[in-house]
Amino acid sequence: MPLLFGTAKFNEQEHLTIGGCDTVVLAEKYGTPLFVYDVAHVRERARGFKQTFNSLGVKNKVIYASKAFCCLAMYKLLEEEELGCDVVSGGELYTAIKGGMSPENIEFHGNNKTKEELSYAVDQNVGMIIIDNFYEIDLLSTILKEKGKQQKVMFRITPGVDAETHEYILTGQVDSKFGFDVMSGQATDALEKILADENLLLKGAHCHIGSQIFSAEGFLAAVEKMLLILNDWKKTFGYTVDILNMGGGFGVQYTEADDPLEPEAFVKAIVNGVKDQCELLDYAFPEIWIEPGRSIIAEAGTTIYSIGSQKVIPDVRHYVSVDGGMGDNIRPALYDAVYDGFLANRISTEATQESRIVGKYCESGDVLIKNIELPPMNPEDLFAMTSTGAYGYSMANNYNRNLKPAVVFVENGQDKLAVRRETFEDLIALDCE
Ligand code: LLP
Repeated sequence: MPLLFGTAKFNEQEHLTIGGCDTVVLAEKYGTPLFVYDVAHVRERARGFKQTFNSLGVKNKVIYASKAFCCLAMYKLLEEEELGCDVVSGGELYTAIKGGMSPENIEFHGNNKTKEELSYAVDQNVGMIIIDNFYEIDLLSTILKEKGKQQKVMFRITPGVDAETHEYILTGQVDSKFGFDVMSGQATDALEKILADENLLLKGAHCHIGSQIFSAEGFLAAVEKMLLILNDWKKTFGYTVDILNMGGGFGVQYTEADDPLEPEAFVKAIVNGVKDQCELLDYAFPEIWIEPGRSIIAEAGTTIYSIGSQKVIPDVRHYVSVDGGMGDNIRPALYDAVYDGFLANRISTEATQESRIVGKYCESGDVLIKNIELPPMNPEDLFAMTSTGAYGYSMANNYNRNLKPAVVFVENGQDKLAVRRETFEDLIALDCE
């Protein structure tokens, strides 16, 4: 039996159903490729993070990282689940506001926010701006002075959790384009500058150590380093943070081989780590914020493709082409990401041939799954690629002028179009004759 996430199961007709909806019917209704999102799974993940904090009696904010996947319907869902969101561009901020996110629950990230983006965020009264560098301190301060406003801010620190100790995809190491470095003293200089600025209301410190992390060790190392520097600042400047933001990066399952901690276990580990350090250093326990993206949305997403051409090179390879590819999921081509999948319109009991699932884009590197055992297939069979909910649609592109797929939300037997499929007219909408 293939690895099924959330509410996914096979019905009596041997069709894959998600959220009580038959994916064969969805494919007929909306066409393929089609992103299907299991709303119940998103809710469960969101609640898992929040309830764990609440059960531990810790003041918290769970802030969904929009970059993993966003659209108006997603923001509506976040509001329903009382999650905040982080945005990293004017475009994400615009979508969040149009989607009904209350500005207070939006935080703005990014290593090169433009003057226009910062002005827009200030005008919209976003709840928090995470300052990333010295240029931004000056830029934001000038904007606020011009507008006669104050803004709640945090600042992003690279705590120096390095790859030698933890083999993760890291962004918390010294050599990073993000944040203020601790070792060289930049973070301390930034603190002094921000504290001295009456337009900037400093609420705390942020770090994000990387993405698709499976264990708590890296977070605990980061907690330890953050608390050490925070405690130094308490002694030197008498400054204590209200909020400690530990970022996102909690890993998910793409295949059987992936074995991440449960979201709840990450939260418990971080909370206990902060408690231990605070007790050790006699530091006031701060509010804790996290920014999960992938762990909320990845496993909830499944892409349904139609099978098209096949090419068998005897003793070499069996290529199976689908009607999407690197335009709707660039992760295998970009990161060597490994995915799993199966036929959606019949249970593949006798998996007999090793196949390579490729897309329809004019690139040999347009491979979705390098090696997978699949039964003999016919054109028009449906292939379900699982755990595609994060950084798939959000990184989609129009290479070869292929159309971006539709996105449908399913829950309790109901399907709701969240993003319509692009049309040829959309493709030329920006072109000037
Ligand atoms: N917070 C900050 C400051 C971040 O930079 C990120 C992700 C997150 C939160 C959310 O991380 P998550 O929980 O989703 O791991 N395109 C890549 C992932 C890039 C992640 C960038 N930052 C991929 O497809 O794997």
